[in-house]
Amino acid sequence: MKRNSRLLYYVLCISLLSSFLIGGFSYWLLRQHIIGEARDRNNLQLDFVNASTTYFEHSQKRLINELLKNNDGFYPELTNGFMLLRKQSELLGKRNKGHSLHLASLNPLNPDNWADNEESRIINAFQKNPQQLKIQEGLIRKNNDVLFYTATPIRITGNSCLNCHGAPDNAPRAQIILYGRDSGYNWQKNTTIAAAIAYVSVKNVISEARKNALKIFAVSLVCFLLSFTAIFLFFDRD
Ligand code: HEC
Repeated sequence: MKRNSRLLYYVLCISLLSSFLIGGFSYWLLRQHIIGEARDRNNLQLDFVNASTTYFEHSQKRLINELLKNNDGFYPELTNGFMLLRKQSELLGKRNKGHSLHLASLNPLNPDNWADNEESRIINAFQKNPQQLKIQEGLIRKNNDVLFYTATPIRITGNSCLNCHGAPDNAPRAQIILYGRDSGYNWQKNTTIAAAIAYVSVKNVISEARKNALKIFAVSLVCFLLSFTAIFLFFDRD
């Protein structure tokens, strides 16, 4: 009897441990799959906005500037690639719930582009390691949601940027009227001043994965216990 109860105890322990391993491994696999999917979605988001901004910068902007040559007005909607990017991302996010793109900056012209704490940490990391660090990604909690983010740096590479983001006194007057002169200026050449950060919400899929892993754990526990009971009964029948 004593031997039997010890065997029963071992069987229970082994069943529990094996089921934990199976459940845990399933959760890990599901989570890896979710992160892979989220990464692909973010990369697609970043690739799309990059492609459309490149087309704008290389093909449309020159033509627009040519057409506006004798016009004194200030039309960022027509001439600013970053505004185009921000507006496109807003529309994309409206049609694709859980997706968003933020042009986060530590010193932006547009207050919508202020970096929050987590985004400031990302930009600081890009600033500290401009040569090696080209992309950052990970999971963060924001507004009661769990998000997977992919961030790429935005650097000031040419002097042309400083026409508008250098000293406020040299910036277009209309820009000062529209955006003020407190923020978005005195950027330095060859520095990282912002990051394009794509987000995708993974809260629901991760909690779904947790539930599924729990089900796998329960099913494997039952299977182990049933098979051990069968073995136990087989040896115990005499
Ligand atoms: C003709 C003026 C002008 C030039 C030149 C210009 N920008 Fe801007 N930039 C703006 C304006 C205006 C905004 C705000 C757009 C908006 O409201 O979304 C802006 C916004 C940005 C933002 C988003 C953060 C913020 O400040 O709101 C980044 C990043 C940025 N610009 C980077 C650059 C870079 C890099 C260059 C050079 C390649 C550049 N800009 C050249 C006027 C300019």
